[in-house]
Amino acid sequence: MPVIAVIGAQWGDEGKGKIVDMLAEKARYVVRFSGGDNAGHTVVNHLGQFALHLIPSGIFSPQTTCVIGNGVAVNPDVLLKEMNQLNQRGVDTSRLIISDRAHLIMPYHVLLDNLEEKLRAARAIGTTGKGIGPAFADKAARLGIRAGEIIDVDGFRERLRVILDYKNAILERIYGTAPLSFDQIYRQYSEFGKILKPYIRDTSDMLLGLRPDEMVLLEGAQGALLDPDFGTYPYTTSSSCLASAGSLGSGICSNKVTGILGVYKVYCTRVGGGPMPTELKDETGDTIRETAHEYGTTTGRPRRCGWFDAVAARFSSRINGFTRIALTRLDIFDAFPTLKICTGYKLDGNVIDYFPASVSALERCQPIYEEIPGWQSSTKNIRKYEDLPLKARQYVEKLANIANCPISLICVGPERDQTIEVRPIL
Ligand code: IMP
Repeated sequence: MPVIAVIGAQWGDEGKGKIVDMLAEKARYVVRFSGGDNAGHTVVNHLGQFALHLIPSGIFSPQTTCVIGNGVAVNPDVLLKEMNQLNQRGVDTSRLIISDRAHLIMPYHVLLDNLEEKLRAARAIGTTGKGIGPAFADKAARLGIRAGEIIDVDGFRERLRVILDYKNAILERIYGTAPLSFDQIYRQYSEFGKILKPYIRDTSDMLLGLRPDEMVLLEGAQGALLDPDFGTYPYTTSSSCLASAGSLGSGICSNKVTGILGVYKVYCTRVGGGPMPTELKDETGDTIRETAHEYGTTTGRPRRCGWFDAVAARFSSRINGFTRIALTRLDIFDAFPTLKICTGYKLDGNVIDYFPASVSALERCQPIYEEIPGWQSSTKNIRKYEDLPLKARQYVEKLANIANCPISLICVGPERDQTIEVRPIL
């Protein structure tokens, strides 16, 4: 049975939601395996436009079971609101299952995320403020509370008591803020437990009984350059965004993963702080932002926009092991007379072609550009690769060479059908 990971290859927001929504039509399971409601997956399909944060983008396909895997941090309040919103618009969420091992985002995580950001002042990470960092820190510190625990009321009471005492000491003594009420959190999360109980279970047995033709999609969140190990640390998120996290965060062992689809935008964007060598703080950057409406799905913040970064793209492909790539938002460049690709960096007077581990080095990197002529005609209605203008084909082939990986899909608009299938994903 094919198990395919769909991975953001840049700093997130590459358009994974659209790709997963499209591929989910043929999938038996779609599994979110990392991140939390910091993710914002925009999906436009026959039912309308949706912004998903926690629920896998396969929820619109009636035959697909959607799984929130053990690697995700779940804010139950956000999840229930998202489920209600979908239900109100006629989308059935009864096929959702939540791993009993998924960690929960608690009210103190959200509070601490925002207090920590204030403390970082000029060096703020620019987090989404959703409590993601503190929740994954607690997971590692063994102070986390998992989804399976809120359906065991007595066990939950005992753990919350110990953890909240500790969190309140931090809130009061370090930040000088008011402590949180045990009773309120206990009542609220016990209630969440009651409502979510039918959805919470061991999800690691997904492959049992799957037919050989049934597909599993592992839906990535954020992007490889926000990965805490390989991204622009400390300006990263707090759970792994790489393909290798797909098996760990879902419970599907790594030798079952048969394909890794890397999703690249044909330019770069980034939200929040941290280095971005090709960022354009000029009219061209504004044109990309306004043409593509590059504003955060989760926070509404304007995204930083820039040219395609080949150094970062090659690095990302290598650490993920992409077997195919998808290129999104090609149509955004339809009117551009020339395009640029960053082929190397100038660092302290030397030309380098690798992605430095140190952010201070990356902050000093100046992009070296190759100029490429634009195609200056609309690609929005093109559905066959051979019908793309020659210059557009030359541009995407260049990107495929950089990623050292064959192209499977090219997106020329937000709608499901605004997609060119160059070759199958496997
Ligand atoms: P956090 O994940 O909320 O802690 O934020 C850490 C960094 O990751 C910040 O720069 C965020 O803007 C960025 N980030 C988190 N989730 C996403 C996403 O889904 N798309 C793009 N950037 C994200």
